Amino acid sequence: MTEVSPLFSLRDVSKRYGAVEALTGVDLDVYSGDVIAICGDNGAGKSTLIKVLSGAEIASGGEIMLAGRRMHFRSPQDALAQGVATIYQDLALAPRLSITANIFMGAELTRPLLGRFLRVLDKARMAKQAEAYLKRLAVSIDDMSTPVERLSGGQRQAVAISRALRWNANVIIMDEPTAALGVRETAMVLDLIRRLRETRHTVVLISHNMADVVAVATRVAILKSGRKVFDTPIDGMSAGRLAGLIMSGGQ
Ligand SMILES: Nc1ncnc2c1ncn2[C@@H]1O[C@H](COP(=O)(O)OP(=O)(O)OP(=O)(O)O)[C@@H](O)[C@H]1O
Ligand SMILES: [Mg+2]
Repeated sequence: MTEVSPLFSLRDVSKRYGAVEALTGVDLDVYSGDVIAICGDNGAGKSTLIKVLSGAEIASGGEIMLAGRRMHFRSPQDALAQGVATIYQDLALAPRLSITANIFMGAELTRPLLGRFLRVLDKARMAKQAEAYLKRLAVSIDDMSTPVERLSGGQRQAVAISRALRWNANVIIMDEPTAALGVRETAMVLDLIRRLRETRHTVVLISHNMADVVAVATRVAILKSGRKVFDTPIDGMSAGRLAGLIMSGGQ
């Protein structure tokens, strides 16, 4: 059997905020194609873990390895350049701007105009590619010039994920992606996560919703008071059993 090495690993990662130890000695191996759910009660350290992984905060100790290399992310933009994208609950979309403009924000395509010296935005190529990114997520929206404010919650998530794909992210971190959504929208977002898994993306998912976790995750890690207390494949685990594990701190 060939040994598969993890896509990224955390080794003995800790994070202190003054006197508060938000994370202590966390080890985590994440493999390509995993959808790993990070669960735990309020204040367990889930968001802190994501912030350290996404470059929003710098760990107080320990190491983060990505594809075998030690990483020192200085900012979310830095992490994104290395293929680690984070989608926060507010999605950070510009509601008045089009789907295309949101997907290409900060990474617009241009084309030459009047020879070599002048470049203009290549709107047609961006719109075509925007459509292709959405199609990879099995989402079709007729008009790429639609302002994002007119989309449903699920479609907005698809735009935010497409933006991560535009940056060639292979690790996509999502903090509570279904928290503000209704039943249909939640089902759509769970489908988006499944599509990411099928296309060999790796997803780190924070969720308080046990039904969502058992529906899409391949693995779950449970945090309690900043420590990882449990880490297991989902393998048909029920939502009730997962809730029980979180309440008992992984016992
Ligand atoms: N910027 C900060 N300054 C001080 N303490 C913080 C800061 N951010 C988080 N903490 C503390 O670190 C601990 C972990 O917080 P974190 O936000 O990671 O928890 P969480 O698991 O995401 O909780 P929730 O489910 O409520 O979102 C908590 O005790 C919290 O009060
Ligand atoms: Mg949180």
